[in-house]
Parts: sequence; structure tokens; C-alpha cells
Amino acid sequence: MTAWDIALTVLIGIWVFVPALLPNPAAVLFGGGRPIDSGRTWNGKRILGDGKTWRGFFGGGLAGVAVGLMQIGIAYLSGSPDLWGFGPFWSNAGILFTLSFGAVLGDIGGSLIKRRMGKERGAEVPILDQYDFLIGAFLLTALFHPNWVYSTYISGWNILALIVLLLVTYVLHRVVNIIGYKAGVKNEPW
Ligand code: CTP
Ligand code: MG
Repeated sequence: MTAWDIALTVLIGIWVFVPALLPNPAAVLFGGGRPIDSGRTWNGKRILGDGKTWRGFFGGGLAGVAVGLMQIGIAYLSGSPDLWGFGPFWSNAGILFTLSFGAVLGDIGGSLIKRRMGKERGAEVPILDQYDFLIGAFLLTALFHPNWVYSTYISGWNILALIVLLLVTYVLHRVVNIIGYKAGVKNEPW
């Protein structure tokens, strides 16, 4: 592996994760309306809270799939689709769904934990806020496409792609939420 190969491996690891990065900001834009828990409580506290809505779930999830389809399209137009990380379309289109809906499910899991901790909607819980969606995306994708996760993020130098992705995700999450807050579309800057 040359330094260039390693850099490319890291770049691909970030590129293919875009379908998991998009759903949360998209949910902020599409969200609203009926909450997923329909206002139900559990031990006196909301199950998920008003910040997790059906529109955010499907709007966010489908936005991630849509951007992934565009990425696969770009890879095909380039003439060497295998270089772009998703591989052959029909065997791997499912990856877009598990990355994207895994992200929204992870975000919901994060809210479930926050409500159990007694934190109100929008309260800040460092690490959980930044990584709940990433954990959801990896878990769901590892369940359905373990070989892809292994070859993209674990084996050999690919572990570096995972490490850089963890750092990039943290920074992106902070920056995008601050922008969303300043732009007036998000209630809190985290
Ligand atoms: N959102 C949504 N549906 C989702 C996820 C997000 O409608 N499934 C929207 C909500 O308007 C939410 C905003 O995106 O307020 C920001 O998302 P997030 O920060 O995850 O929610 P919080 O409101 O901070 O709530 P929580 O404390 O549960 O994270
Ligand atoms: Mg929040």
C-alpha cells in the first residue's frame, strides 16, 4: 500500500458513509408533525419525545438513499464503479438502505436513551448526540452486509478509514448543527 492508496481508502470510507451522514440534517428540514411515539410515555417520561417524527424518519431515511443512488450513478458515469466503494449496483444497493435507515434508527435509539436518562427533548448529551446515528448505521449495515463493512472499515489499513470517519463525523456534526442553529432551522446548536 502506498500513501496514496491509504489516503484513497480513507476518502472512500468517508464517501460511502454520506448516505448515513445526510439523514439527520435532512430530518431537521423534513421533520415535524406526528411524533413516532404519538405522545406516549413510559414511567412518566416520553418514550422518544416530540423531536422524533414520522416525517423526519422517512424524509431523512429516503434522503440518504437518494443521495446514495446519485453517488452510485456518479461511480458508474466515471467508468470504474468498483473504485468508488459501493461495488456492483444490484448486490450493494441494499447498503444504501441500511446506512441511511440505520442512521435514523440510531438517532431514535439515542433519544430513547436520553428520555430514559430523564433528559428533555433537545438536552445535550455529548458523544451520544454525535454518535448515535453512526452506531445505528454500522450495526444495521454490519447485520446485512458484514463483508462490506469488514472490507471497507476493518481489514488492514481500512481501520484508518474508520478512525478518520469517527473524527470527521464528530466535527461535521458540530459544525452542521451550529450552522443549522444560526440559520434558524435548528433549536439547539448541538
Ligand atoms: N427530527 C424529526 N424526526 C426525526 C429526527 C429529527 O422530526 N426522526 C427533527 C425534529 O424537529 C428535531 C430536529 O430534527 O427537533 C433535531 O433532531 P435531534 O437533535 O435529533 O432531536 P432533538 O429535538 O434534539 O431531540 P432529542 O433530545 O430526542 O435528540
Ligand atoms: Mg438534539
